[in-house]
Amino acid sequence: MALHQQYALVRGKTGFNLDLQSKELRALRPHEIRMKVKAASLNYRDLLTFDDPDGNKDGLVPLSDAAGEIVEIGSGVRNWKIGDRVSPGFFPAWTDGAFSQSHLSNALGGGQTDGVLSEYAIADEAALVAIPDYLGFHEAAALPCAGVTAWHALFERGKIQPEHTVLVQGTGGVALLGLQMASAIGARVIVTSSSDEKLARARALGAWQTINYKSQPDWDQIAVELTDGRGVDHILELGGPSSYDRSIAAIAPGGQIAQIGVLSGFGARPDMTPLQFKNAAVNGICVGSVAHYANLNRFLQKHGIHPVIDAEFAFDDAGAAYELLRSASHFGKITISGM
Ligand SMILES: NC(=O)c1ccc[n+]([C@@H]2O[C@H](COP(=O)([O-])OP(=O)(O)OC[C@H]3O[C@@H](n4cnc5c(N)ncnc54)[C@H](OP(=O)(O)O)[C@@H]3O)[C@@H](O)[C@H]2O)c1
Repeated sequence: MALHQQYALVRGKTGFNLDLQSKELRALRPHEIRMKVKAASLNYRDLLTFDDPDGNKDGLVPLSDAAGEIVEIGSGVRNWKIGDRVSPGFFPAWTDGAFSQSHLSNALGGGQTDGVLSEYAIADEAALVAIPDYLGFHEAAALPCAGVTAWHALFERGKIQPEHTVLVQGTGGVALLGLQMASAIGARVIVTSSSDEKLARARALGAWQTINYKSQPDWDQIAVELTDGRGVDHILELGGPSSYDRSIAAIAPGGQIAQIGVLSGFGARPDMTPLQFKNAAVNGICVGSVAHYANLNRFLQKHGIHPVIDAEFAFDDAGAAYELLRSASHFGKITISGM
């Protein structure tokens, strides 16, 4: 078998190191395809994985999000052909329907399951979505985790309507894709950020209102004022412990908080009492299914939405992509080219 290049998280004295390795390609099973990875993207989750050598296997190939071209198909594959532009879902086995907790251990690029930061990647045919023609590989690689999460929260579960208001926290991947999709249907979106410069960019992208959560820590009250005292219909709760109480304060009667993020840590213990007096809901969101991903792509294509890519790194420069993500100075997504 031929060799290919892949990155692996290898345990060192102080934690994981990102090592570039040469590995043998394995033969395909009947319902698998091999894709040449053209681009991969980073998510905040990839920092959590990198920082947790106890919770992830030694030698894990990192990253969940890739876009590429099929170069080989298994003997039983009928729906895809060599040359197709495809992207695998974050949970390859969650193709449709209700979630099962068994999918958690199969998420790409975490635990015991290798991811996509490699020259070639193998995927089950049922885990794939076609990349819309109008999207480039880097744009398509921005979607499997961040895009599907924002789509699932706002559209599949949230049933967002054009007359609704939305609040997204920060200007990373999930937040900006949420902003772009919600504003595409006419919903009014409030963006919070630590940076006035990023807020100006968010306004240029369609944000209705912006709040600097560092200089205006009472952003929840400001959000209530901006919505004429009602509160916000959908909040993408990304901060975790540092923001959750304020999200509850800012949610409108009948509104929905999508519980998604852990940017300030795990284990938020907010006072949930106000939710009952607002008839408001919390939707726990864990990325989404392959079917959600296909629905997302249809929506993005219909509205001509291009994900925001902050920076594209060469394959050899993957370490620098991690550093940029850790700095949190990015706006939107960070991608890495295939080999
Ligand atoms: N549940 C799920 O299925 C799921 C899926 C995807 C992501 N997530 C989670 O969602 C969060 C966002 O993920 P991502 O990949 O979009 O992140 P990202 O691209 O790394 O974006 C992070 C941005 O959020 C802002 N931020 C940082 N700390 C914050 C805080 N304490 N409060 C509010 N904003 C803060 C910063 O933007 P500014 O500089 O503009 O302030 C930062 O650049 C992460 O916690 C991630 O683990 C969960």
